[in-house]
Amino acid sequence: MAHEPGRPTQALDPPAAAEAPTPTRHERALQAIAENPAWYHSIELAPGVVTPGRVDMRAAAERVLPPDLSGRRALDIGTFDGFWAFEMERRGAEVVAIDVERLDDAEWPPRNRERLLDEVDRHQLELGRGFRLAANLLGSGVERRICSVYDLRPEAIGGSVDFAFMGALLLHLRDPVRALESVRASLRPGGELRSMEPFALDLTLRSPRAPAARFQPLETPFNWWLPNIAALRAWPRAAGFGRPRLLRVLKPPSVRQMRQPYAVLDCPRDP
Ligand SMILES: C[S@@+](CC[C@H](N)C(=O)[O-])C[C@H]1O[C@@H](n2cnc3c(N)ncnc32)[C@H](O)[C@@H]1O
Repeated sequence: MAHEPGRPTQALDPPAAAEAPTPTRHERALQAIAENPAWYHSIELAPGVVTPGRVDMRAAAERVLPPDLSGRRALDIGTFDGFWAFEMERRGAEVVAIDVERLDDAEWPPRNRERLLDEVDRHQLELGRGFRLAANLLGSGVERRICSVYDLRPEAIGGSVDFAFMGALLLHLRDPVRALESVRASLRPGGELRSMEPFALDLTLRSPRAPAARFQPLETPFNWWLPNIAALRAWPRAAGFGRPRLLRVLKPPSVRQMRQPYAVLDCPRDP
C-alpha cells in the first residue's frame, strides 16, 4: 500500500513482535544456580552471585596455584563443578578437566554402594551439570572429558600437560599409587603435579616421618584412606615422582562434615 502523505508511517507497518528482555548476567547466574540441586564448589558466576557450594576454595586458590600459568597446558583431575579448572584457565592455562561419567562410577566401597545410589537418586545428583552451567556463565573454554584417573594417558586428554592439579581425590581411591602413576604418565618431562588432599592431623603429629593412613570404608560412606602427610609424600614417590615438597596446610570453609585440613604438595614429575 502506498504511503499517504500526512499519515504516520508506523500506522502502516505491522506491529513489532513483543520481545522478551534479554536476561542480565545476574539473572542468568541465579537461574543457573537454581538449575543444579547440589553444588560442590562455591563459584562466583556473576559479580556477587556465588553458587552455594559444600566447600569454598575461593580464598585458597591464590595460595595453591601459581599466579601465572600462561603458555602452559593444565589438567584438572576429578573436576566436579570445575572450580579449579576455571581458576587455572583464569591464570592463562589451556585447560582440560577430567571426571568419571556418573557419581557411582567412583570407587565406592562395595558395602556402602546401595545406600549411596539411593542418595544420588533421592537428591537427583548428576555429575557434570554444575560444570556445564558454570562454564556457560563464565564463558569458559575448558574441555571436560570423561576419563578415570586410572586411565590417564596423553592420548586420553589430547596430549601431555605441563601442570596437573588434583584435589580431594586420593582419599576416594582404592589404589592411590596406581592413580598417581597414571597422572605422572600424563605429564611432560619437567612437569609438575600440585595436589591438595585432606590428611589426618593426629596421625601426622604422632608419626611425622613414617607413612601411615587410616582405612575408612567402615566409618565413612566413600573414603578409603585418610593419610598422614608422610604418606601424601610417599605415595607419589612410590609412583615414580621426584621428591614432593609440602607447600602449605589449609582449612577452607565448608559444610561441617567436610571441614578438615588439607596439605598442598608440589610433586615434580622427574627426580
Ligand atoms: C571430592 S571431589 C573433589 C573435587 C575437586 N577436585 C576439588 O578438589 O575441589 C572428587 C571428584 O573426583 C571425581 N572422581 C572420583 N573418582 C574418580 C576417578 N576414578 N577418576 C577421576 N575422577 C574421579 C569425583 O567424581 C569428583 O568430581
